[in-house]
Amino acid sequence: MLAGLALLLGLYVLFYYNFLKGTRCRNETGLRGRTVIITGGNTGIGKATALDLARRGARVILACRNKVRGECAAFDIRRESGNNEVLFMSLDLADLNSVRTFADTFLRSEPRLDILINNAGVIHTGRSKDGFDLTFQVNQLSHFLLTHLLLDRLKRCTPSRVLVVASSAHLSGKIDIQNIHKPGESFLQTFLSYCNSKLANILTVRELANRLKGTNITCYAIDPGFVRTDIFQNFPIWLKPFLFLITWLICRDPTDGAQTSIYCATEEGIEMFSGRYFANCRLKEPTPLARDDAVAKKLWEVSETMVGLTAS
Ligand SMILES: NC(=O)c1ccc[n+]([C@@H]2O[C@H](COP(=O)([O-])OP(=O)(O)OC[C@H]3O[C@@H](n4cnc5c(N)ncnc54)[C@H](OP(=O)(O)O)[C@@H]3O)[C@@H](O)[C@H]2O)c1
Repeated sequence: MLAGLALLLGLYVLFYYNFLKGTRCRNETGLRGRTVIITGGNTGIGKATALDLARRGARVILACRNKVRGECAAFDIRRESGNNEVLFMSLDLADLNSVRTFADTFLRSEPRLDILINNAGVIHTGRSKDGFDLTFQVNQLSHFLLTHLLLDRLKRCTPSRVLVVASSAHLSGKIDIQNIHKPGESFLQTFLSYCNSKLANILTVRELANRLKGTNITCYAIDPGFVRTDIFQNFPIWLKPFLFLITWLICRDPTDGAQTSIYCATEEGIEMFSGRYFANCRLKEPTPLARDDAVAKKLWEVSETMVGLTAS
């Protein structure tokens, strides 16, 4: 009996370290003099990414919706990294006006932007202030607008990068242009909306790369793997015991989950892969739907209208 348990434990440890833990970003690229924005940098994958980039000397702006949580995270990261240039700035992605105000404040107060990391994400039922599906707006639409508003500053600071934290959940996503922004009511609809938003993230990165050809701004979509964070906090209560078990058995910790974001922010020589999808610090092919340039273009145009960049 004991021997059986020990064997099981041994197999699990082998499986964890070989398949679940993921690959570490091994470069030591310094970021002194570079400015990074990271949305949702107060917790989870975002905070772990911010800490690593701060340790490399970057000026790091944590763009977060909650002042107390944002300031506390900035304090922790300053203390742990020894880098005093870690700041909180207010950004609520559930409100397009907040995105505009954030961009305005940032552009007026910060001369540089070298790396934009669109990391924040939710799986949450409901409607945003602007009337869109909350999950779709936070994960996709608001980041789309944010990137647009900051593009000129990125152009001034080339070589610069845009990272979007997507997910393997895109495998279950689809792009229904007429309905993708409409709020769902059940948890299942919300979960599917999350999958759609992550597919939209990958398609947007693809189209952005096409539009940025020749500018020296490059962009990358990232799959962090399964990571033990607060992202599952809004799941129904009856799913929580199962989730608890799953997260402790198969999820990586946030530091391991941040490695591909850190890699795409710092690795030299990946510029030729602009527009592509990365997992475990290497290129990965997303689903064929996530490689459909016609859908990517259409989604881009519809997103422009939704966030008010072009007339409907
Ligand atoms: N965890 C995973 O297994 C996994 C897998 C694949 C992809 N991802 C992606 O990884 C990214 C980071 O997620 P995580 O796992 O680190 O989750 P997390 O710990 O829940 O962090 C999500 C972050 O997004 C922020 N956020 C939520 N709504 C926001 C809003 N309206 N405005 C501004 N910020 C908002 C949260 O702020 P508060 O702290 O104020 O709520 C938090 O900082 C997400 O894009 C997620 O889709 C995660």
